[in-house]
Order: sequence, then C-alpha cells, then structure tokens
Amino acid sequence: MTNLAERISEAADFVRGQCSAEPRVGLILGTGLGGLAEQIDTDARIAYEDIPHFPHSTVESHAGRLVCGNLSGVPLLAMEGRFHYYEGYSLEQVTFPVRVMKELGVEILIITNAAGGMNPQFALADLMIIEDHIDFMPENPLRGVNDDSLGPRFPDMAEPYDQKLIATAQQAALEMGIPCQKGVFVAVAGPNLETRAEYRMLRAMGADVVGMSTVPEAIVAKHAGLRTLAFSVVTDMCLPDALEPVNIEKILAVAARGGDRLAKLIPRVVADIA
Ligand code: HPA
Repeated sequence: MTNLAERISEAADFVRGQCSAEPRVGLILGTGLGGLAEQIDTDARIAYEDIPHFPHSTVESHAGRLVCGNLSGVPLLAMEGRFHYYEGYSLEQVTFPVRVMKELGVEILIITNAAGGMNPQFALADLMIIEDHIDFMPENPLRGVNDDSLGPRFPDMAEPYDQKLIATAQQAALEMGIPCQKGVFVAVAGPNLETRAEYRMLRAMGADVVGMSTVPEAIVAKHAGLRTLAFSVVTDMCLPDALEPVNIEKILAVAARGGDRLAKLIPRVVADIA
C-alpha cells in the first residue's frame, strides 16, 4: 500500500481530469439530504468505485458518487453519499475524500448530516448550524504517524467550525425566513441508536444533537487547513422521558423536509462566501 499522500495525489489526479474548473467548495451531503445535488450545474458524476484508493462500498446501499460542477456559479465538488464508521471503514477511509478535496484546491468544506435532537427547544426538520462538537467516537482519523505535509501533529480545536462562515449562514437563514438553530453536535459510532440513559448522558455532556458522522471529517478538515461549516437536520427527537421507537421511514420523510430547507439555504450561503 502506498502512503497516504501518494494515494491522495493519485485520487486527485483522476478527479481533476473530469472537472472543468478547480473546485473552491466541498460539500458532503448526508443521509436523505441529496436533493441539493440536483441544483448543481454538473460537469461530471464520478462513481466512488472508479476513483483510485477511494473506499470500496461494503454495503448494499445506493452507490455513492462525486459530483463536480458549479453551484451559484462557484466551482464545487459534492459527495452524494458519505462513508460511515459503522459501515466498517477506518476513519482514515471515512475522511479520505476530504483529503482529496483539499488536494484539488477546495478551501471551504460544507458538511451536512441527519441527527437526533436532544435539545427540547428543537423541532423535527429544524436545521442546526454546528458551532462546536464532542468527539465520542472510539477512533481518531489522525491516529498514527503524522505526515507533516498534510497538517500538524496536534491540530488546534478551539474553532473547528469557522465563525465567519457560521455568521454568514445565520444571516442568510434569517433573511430567507428559514428556521435555523445553532448548537453542539456529539458524534457516536452507531449503528444502533442510543438508550434513554445514553441520551440523558449525551445531553448532560452539553450536546444539542447526536449523529454518526461529521466529526471525523471536521477533524481532518481542520488538520488540512480547510474552513468548515456544518449543518445538522433534526430527523428525530431524542428526549429520554418521551422517547418513541425510531421509524426509519419517518426519519427519511423528516430528512427530506429539512433537506428542502438546506437546498434553499446552501446555494445562497455558497454565493455569499465565495
Ligand atoms: N442518534 C444517532 N444518530 C442519529 C440519530 C440518533 O438519535 N438520529 C439520526 N441520526
């Protein structure tokens, strides 16, 4: 196996050949949030399995692809479908696409996810801008020998999510009349959802929402020197004293509602930040 920097460079060379312009923004579309991809003025859709060194899908779920094109006139790369730790990938594999985006010239990463709402003030289909996170996953994407050409050994985490981008997104949501919360995301490994006792603990730790993604990508983005903006869509309410069993159809329906809001907000945010 070649080293990480070589693998990144080979994957980036392959993708570069299919894009008309150098992407400035990277976008990761979470579960049920793929609708936004339809708004991209597309140059190419590249199946993950065609990209050298991209993780190979181990699950039956729909094939993921990298979409290269323009959104609001800004060249960007979007991941339709992401890799999750619970699928069996290492966190180096989960975050490999972020490394490739950086290599291709991306400066700003926008991450989206579906998450469980633990803050009782939140409602289903609410958007939440992630202001900070708690990493509660059992692995770290930066564990192992550090390649100093990719980033520092001990990356700072005082501001994992860019305050200027957060302010821009909040202002855009306000002007567009899109309800938008701001809060703390906690990442768990999954794939099972949490017990009542776990929700109580995660809430007491200071988290507003819980999900099974995003934090590994945000850590690698920080390591790589990208500016990150991240949104959760609240797909189910996780109130320990009023917990209902999850219903995946219901979650996907709520994700679609939140996804419609993101599909309005993100093109505007991309226009504002570019
Ligand atoms: N827990 C973890 N991940 C989730 C949840 C949850 O309740 N809802 C959506 N993703």
